[in-house]
Amino acid sequence: MTISLSKAFLSWCGPIVVVAAGAPLLFAQTSDSAQDGKALFAAHCQSCHAPFNPTRAPWEDTLRLMMRSTILNALESGKMKSVGDGMSHDERASVASYLGQPDVARKAPVNACPANSAPMANSPLWNGWGSDLSNSRFQPEKAAGLTKAQIPRLKVKWAFGYAGATSAGGPPTVIGERLIVSGGDGQVYSLDRRSGCVYWTFLPEGHARTAITVSDDGKTAFFGDMQGRAYAIDTSNGALRWKTDLDEHPFAMISGAPKLYGGKLYVPVGGGVGGDKSEV
Ligand code: HEC
Repeated sequence: MTISLSKAFLSWCGPIVVVAAGAPLLFAQTSDSAQDGKALFAAHCQSCHAPFNPTRAPWEDTLRLMMRSTILNALESGKMKSVGDGMSHDERASVASYLGQPDVARKAPVNACPANSAPMANSPLWNGWGSDLSNSRFQPEKAAGLTKAQIPRLKVKWAFGYAGATSAGGPPTVIGERLIVSGGDGQVYSLDRRSGCVYWTFLPEGHARTAITVSDDGKTAFFGDMQGRAYAIDTSNGALRWKTDLDEHPFAMISGAPKLYGGKLYVPVGGGVGGDKSEV
């Protein structure tokens, strides 16, 4: 999917970037910034972001649910950089504020876990995207702690909202009583399995939306961000152990969970790497 998307994307980009170069003159004359935003959207974005577009770009209604900073970030350092490069900073900000929701300030979570919580267990119960090496996505009864007969009687115990996000990220990884999950707001969260309280959050440079892979000893969590960087963080407190930029292509992104095998970390990179292919 990534492959065809990137191809479609690149083939659409050429002519539109050229149009963008002449745009500042057109819009410098109007003073109303909402009008500017509307006109800028029509000139620079609509061709791709219209409903049923062939590039599979999010529709305008979806962009309207995003935070302004998310849109600006996409235009200045993210997936839309090639489009944003043809605009001035003021124009990028204007279209972002025309489209997006006011930013929700990132603040410390209101439901932090008590400071004297039990230390991390080192027993992953659901690890990464598919849990096992063949990505079977199957959880045996013993590991789940559930029987088939109990399934229809399950009720919601708690729910957790990612501030300002329009979608969720990856599925949670479960280690003992803790979950580690990439939220729809781009941060990585460690939550308590029983109550949903927050142990820590980690803010990567680009948005993280992969499933999180944890080392066998439960101490290190691995994931990628939507700008092609891989990260290793300490599962007990969210401290960064290392990060590495795997591909500098402007559309490089990591949306698949890394896999750990034989002491090596395998990280899938997609989104236009080297022009039109994906790599590991
Ligand atoms: C050449 C086509 C094209 C143009 C022009 C274009 N976009 Fe996009 N845009 C896309 C595609 C395709 C995606 C989805 C990329 C993906 O998910 O890999 C996208 C994704 C986005 C996203 C989501 C980014 C993310 O990280 O998920 C935002 C925000 C966005 N575009 C804003 C804009 C704005 C604002 C403009 C105009 C200033 C614009 N785009 C112009 C094709 C385009």
